[in-house]
Amino acid sequence: MNSSILKNRKILLGITGGIAAYKSAELVRRLTKEGASVQVVMTEASTKFISSLTFETLTGKPVFTDIFSSPLAHIRLPQEADLYLIAPLTANTLSRLAQGMADDMVTACFLSFRGPVLLAPSMNWKMYEHPATVENLKRLKDMGCVVIRPETGELACGEYGKGRMAEVDVLIEEVKSSLCKKDLSGKKVLITAGPTREPIDPVRFISNRSSGRMGFSLARVARRRGAEVVLIAGPTAIAPPHGIKTIRVETASEMFESLKEHLSGANILVMAAAVADYTVKSPLSKKAQKTKLRSLKLSPAVDILKEVSKIKGDTFVIGFAAETGPNIAKAKRKLREKKMDMLVFNDITLKGAGFDTETNRIVIITSKGEKGYPLMSKEDCAEVIFDHYLEMVA
Ligand code: CTP
Repeated sequence: MNSSILKNRKILLGITGGIAAYKSAELVRRLTKEGASVQVVMTEASTKFISSLTFETLTGKPVFTDIFSSPLAHIRLPQEADLYLIAPLTANTLSRLAQGMADDMVTACFLSFRGPVLLAPSMNWKMYEHPATVENLKRLKDMGCVVIRPETGELACGEYGKGRMAEVDVLIEEVKSSLCKKDLSGKKVLITAGPTREPIDPVRFISNRSSGRMGFSLARVARRRGAEVVLIAGPTAIAPPHGIKTIRVETASEMFESLKEHLSGANILVMAAAVADYTVKSPLSKKAQKTKLRSLKLSPAVDILKEVSKIKGDTFVIGFAAETGPNIAKAKRKLREKKMDMLVFNDITLKGAGFDTETNRIVIITSKGEKGYPLMSKEDCAEVIFDHYLEMVA
């Protein structure tokens, strides 16, 4: 289940003549799947790389390439759009945009559009680094365009360098970010995510089940809404979100140390991490024989939230409680005992609310009461968590 940000949003997508145009087909498919309505305009050159029929099929709408065959399309299409993304953007079209030229659909739409413009350059690294391109990009940034930086890697020409169009995931994240209200701007948000691991020996550990998805969704949503985000993440199989300062930790005490380092000035702390409750008293430096591991001496791991409550100052603290059953009373006790300002409760036995899912079913508990939500994507859960925060501090 996807977040609902793109639902019914109208995206104008300009495609220019670079090899990365093949990725735009996947981009359109994903945007459409998340509920956006995509209108494609192409340069003549781009149709040599990928057919307009591909995009007509994916969007169910005619693709515009020739400015003369539909004389007012370059005014009408931008008027209808919420956002204009040009991906891939070649050095040639980039230069023409910077000069204010309007001799094809992609450039003419740029001039007549009034709204957020996102550019995803794609070219050979020498072309990207050329002072002419650097100057053109600067001009476009000064005009208010968001430039989605290309990646470094192997290029179509076989050379290695910076110029490969950003991945589709990154493009979609930037689109969402541009369409989002910036009601968390000026806020610093510290988020913990994923499990922690307490070593037994170099190959074994004690941990909790947690994919990191909820914490990563919170980080993405906070960034989109304008916050400065610091993410402290335990070991996860999935990659942390794009564009966010992420500190990797392993144990509960490492997480606590990192958190103390970054807590100062944080307006919000979200403890979405599934912190281990126990740590092994004397972890072994060499792999133990299994016969020697029949019992383990444990000591309590640091209870990060309890410790934070003593030093948090004005930081608004949001905790999580994953329980097996509708154990709201226990959750409310945790809220009080750990002096949290908000607790997000979820019953992991409910369908779609467990681990390794893209969805969750949450109840938000504060000292004023509780509010339950239906099954939602984890990103939409993150949205309502921050909405509640803003309501509480208003
Ligand atoms: N938490 C923490 N430090 C720990 C354990 C948990 O800061 N050592 C935080 C979690 O990140 C979460 C909240 O405390 O935000 C509640 O965690 P949970 O595991 O539900 O509660 P516990 O206090 O560990 O109680 P129990 O496991 O007995 O339910």
